[in-house]
Amino acid sequence: MTADFDTDANTTPRDARPMSGSQASMTEIVMPNDANPHGSVSGGRVLHLIDICAAVAALRHARRPVVTASFDDVAFLAPVPIGHVLLLDGQVTGVGRTSIEVRVAVRGENPVTGDLRHTTTAYVTFVALDDAGRPATVPGLVASTPDEEATLERARQRRSARLDRIHRD
Ligand SMILES: CC(C)(COP(=O)(O)OP(=O)(O)OC[C@H]1O[C@@H](n2cnc3c(N)ncnc32)[C@H](O)[C@@H]1OP(=O)(O)O)[C@@H](O)C(=O)NCCC(=O)NCCS
Repeated sequence: MTADFDTDANTTPRDARPMSGSQASMTEIVMPNDANPHGSVSGGRVLHLIDICAAVAALRHARRPVVTASFDDVAFLAPVPIGHVLLLDGQVTGVGRTSIEVRVAVRGENPVTGDLRHTTTAYVTFVALDDAGRPATVPGLVASTPDEEATLERARQRRSARLDRIHRD
């Protein structure tokens, strides 16, 4: 199924790419200069890594330059101490005419025990740019499974709430 947020885009033929084609993963060890005074990774460092991981997923979908337009609310559910490993998994979850929503899930791994703990889920929106730096049309997104179709539907709902928030502020 090809799905776009934009109704015009749904009636205009354009390339569409599978949701699975844009996955991006990163692995980082938490070093002392990544840490807050409590000895665990700082929120700012995690946001930076999320931005990079999400950008790679968006670039893989758009195959053109993208800029970060917004971060939805981000919660840090558990500390990740120095010496532990951060695992980030990014996935395009929805597209509009020129925008791309990416979900990034972050986990902390204790490298000695192998224990994994989910710490954050972030939704980041990118806008693709043309050669003149203006918003550019992006490929549609193909959901191949019922889970992916549900993911697309949730992305539509988040987009609607996000745009309401932006226009209200
Ligand atoms: C993102 C940016 C290119 C959007 O430009 P714009 O002139 O507002 O573009 P438009 O109003 O034509 O909207 C283009 C798309 O961006 C989306 N958009 C704009 N602002 C948004 C925001 N804050 N959050 C999510 N999506 C946003 C629109 O919904 C639209 O999506 P659609 O085409 O899929 O429907 C522009 O605001 C920008 O350059 N921002 C700075 C980006 C940057 O420097 N990021 C690095 C971190 S500061």
